[in-house]
Amino acid sequence: MTTPALGIQDITFATAHHRLDLDLLAQHLGIDPAKFSVGIGQEAMSLPAEDEDVVTMGATAAARILADNDVEGLRTLIFATESGIDQSKAAGVHVAALLGLPAQIRVLETKQACYSGAGALQLALGVVARHPEEKVLVIASDVARYDLDSPGEPTQGAAAVTFLVQADPALLEVEPASGVHTADVPDFWRPNHRVTALVEGKFSISAYMDALEGAWEDYRAHGGAAFEEIDAFCYHQPFTMMAVKAHQRLRRHVGASLPKAQVVEELAPTVGYNRVVGNSYTASVFLALLALLDGDADLTGQRIGIFSYGSGAVSEFFSVRVLPGYRAHLHRAEHAAQLAAREPVDVPRYRELHPGTAVSDAEQQANPRVTAGPYRFVGIEGGVRRYEATGA
Ligand code: CAA
Repeated sequence: MTTPALGIQDITFATAHHRLDLDLLAQHLGIDPAKFSVGIGQEAMSLPAEDEDVVTMGATAAARILADNDVEGLRTLIFATESGIDQSKAAGVHVAALLGLPAQIRVLETKQACYSGAGALQLALGVVARHPEEKVLVIASDVARYDLDSPGEPTQGAAAVTFLVQADPALLEVEPASGVHTADVPDFWRPNHRVTALVEGKFSISAYMDALEGAWEDYRAHGGAAFEEIDAFCYHQPFTMMAVKAHQRLRRHVGASLPKAQVVEELAPTVGYNRVVGNSYTASVFLALLALLDGDADLTGQRIGIFSYGSGAVSEFFSVRVLPGYRAHLHRAEHAAQLAAREPVDVPRYRELHPGTAVSDAEQQANPRVTAGPYRFVGIEGGVRRYEATGA
């Protein structure tokens, strides 16, 4: 009996209602806008409206997957997030209710900073390997928040990526080889009382690159493809120049150094979404993949290397193969429309929307009706979060 290919049948993203252009933030901070547009490689960031969160973004992306695919056999939903909305209940339970999924489904949440979306993919592949007739919906959804006036401020953002994992997929085969690396490092973390992350910015960059070398070596040791056999590379992009730094480091590591300008060009097809959405933690590496897939180049048959890094720090390098006919399954138009529809805000409004540092203890909260999306976070009643479909 031949083992069927396992992988991703469909993948799409949703983002938040508002957009802040980083030129405005630079102006407000009195610094050269090129520091953001060139230095860190960011143009804008998505910001949730008061009635949006990881659940509403995740449900929006997931609804698109459900509408376009046969989901017979869907029995697992994994919700990966750094910015979960409850210490106990998985955010995916709210999504399952909003989407009207049957009760015969297991739902759980995974956490390990920005890594847990890639971790959820591996768990999903395990389920499908054991039960090839089953499907798994993975949602990676995050709102990245740093303190106002901190160095991390221009690297905030928000998005959710959702994908359907199954046997005999139409879009991407996930190859069996993968390399993992864990190191206990204090580079970025978020204690329970904080909405915003604590970060050692410069140290986090070197921790990321050390992890890349470690995961790469483990990938190779477990039968992963040689560097020259990989056609394109997608990196976790907390800011897009991080991917450039990382790829320069990997190229140097394998003895294939290139000048920075060429590396910038090499990674250009992978940065388009992250440049304008900002960091979306667990979703970010998949936004890099989506930017590449949605681009003009025909990637049929190509191998893509993917590096996921979650501070703290857990990382993984793995590879996928792009399957023939993949273009018929892309959501390019929806992605472009959604980015274009974001409502721009000025800096005073952005600062008003920022939740501050401490987690709110409100047990009663009515959110204004703002989002144009299909789901909204209505508010909190007696400590219980309420969501609804908007009909949009
Ligand atoms: N024109 C062009 N470039 C400029 C410039 C100008 N006017 N002014 C500065 N620059 C360049 C700098 O030379 C620098 O480039 P290099 O990195 O190549 O040296 C770059 O812009 C950034 O400048 P600084 O280093 O001075 O920036 P900073 O200290 O204010 O902050 C940061 C940068 C550390 C990334 C900060 O934004 C931060 O802390 N971000 C959050 C942490 C983060 O994203 N870490 C990434 C790895 S951890 C991870 O990946 C997990 C995760 O998602 C958080």
